[in-house]
Amino acid sequence: MSSFKTLDDLGDVTGKVALVRVDLNLPMNGGSVTDTTRVEASAPTILELSEKGAKVLLLAHFGRPGGKRNSTMSVSMTLEAVEEVLGSEVMFIPEIQGPVVEQSIGILRNGDVGLLENTRFWPGEEANDADFAAGIAANADFYVNDAFSAAHRAHASTEGLARILPSYAGRAMEKELNALESALEKPEQPVAAVVGGAKVSSKLAVLENLVGKVQHLIIGGGMANTFLAARGVDVGKSLCEHDLTETANAIMEAADAAGCTVHLPYDVVVSQEFAANPPSLRTCNVHEVAESEMILDVGPQAVEALADVLKTCRTVVWNGPMGAFETEPFDAATVALAKTAAALSAEGSLVSVAGGGDTVAALNHAGAARDFSYISTAGGAFLEWMEGKELPGVAALTV
Ligand code: 3PG
Repeated sequence: MSSFKTLDDLGDVTGKVALVRVDLNLPMNGGSVTDTTRVEASAPTILELSEKGAKVLLLAHFGRPGGKRNSTMSVSMTLEAVEEVLGSEVMFIPEIQGPVVEQSIGILRNGDVGLLENTRFWPGEEANDADFAAGIAANADFYVNDAFSAAHRAHASTEGLARILPSYAGRAMEKELNALESALEKPEQPVAAVVGGAKVSSKLAVLENLVGKVQHLIIGGGMANTFLAARGVDVGKSLCEHDLTETANAIMEAADAAGCTVHLPYDVVVSQEFAANPPSLRTCNVHEVAESEMILDVGPQAVEALADVLKTCRTVVWNGPMGAFETEPFDAATVALAKTAAALSAEGSLVSVAGGGDTVAALNHAGAARDFSYISTAGGAFLEWMEGKELPGVAALTV
């Protein structure tokens, strides 16, 4: 990975204006923020700059307002949550550039924090318009990007600003980039990747990239059914992308050629209906799935074998659940395998990095998240990284 500047490279910032890109795209329910993980992740960066005497202006998007003001997507909806996590008052500034921002900076004292309006209220954000970025930059002395989870977007606030102002990775970004480097770029070998989730189609590029980088590819969730079907297994009425069986075969051939072992379940948990603890629940060999049954989780024997695989590895990258983990008892494989990875990480024999979509929820559900070496707060950005893509927000920070 190329190098990037961090907050350690900043000189005296007293009285200087810092534009700090954070991710405040927070989950909401009934107008209240339901999870502040992303704010907590960026708090060290904000507090460090504030303690050093900078005037900190937070920049973030919230939802997808499509380049127009929309009161239901004002970033001010997150203000209370941000203040609570930081433990101090934050000034909401309902603009992103121009005289209102200038005046607000005049009111802010050194160390104060302001929150600028949703970057996506202006079309220049997603268009990564140079004039728009220059207008935002005009009020600031330097730029800090602490939003890895938005770094897959080449937008003005994630990419354009880094090209105009002296730019630095915030503490959360720094941690994320270091963790990702230790997971796939310079990992301790052997490396396993656990990839689950419903559909192969949404993770094709991830699988194609991983087979060339890891020694063990563990496939679970609905997507395993497509691979099983490609190997000639009758998966009954399981979720399965039959049109992708050729693609699945090509991935398995590429894995073979690269010396990567693809692990598919050989026993599975099935049921005739998708419901919690259904009467038709049973565990069987993959070759015994009836026409009327669907596969909803990896079976216990396969889980044991997969746990043994993890015990031989030094690094694991995890994305996606092994089964329909939100409905009991189809969480069993995810919980058991996550607990194994967590225990191996806690004793120091495994570096475990997880992220993307449902993954954090699944690992929290398993009670395993705390012991993982690193859990990313990113969804789409984590997946794009797993695909081996260069993320524009990260590329713009590299020196
Ligand atoms: C996210 O929530 O994953 C990021 O904030 C990116 O949001 P976006 O998918 O709307 O760009």
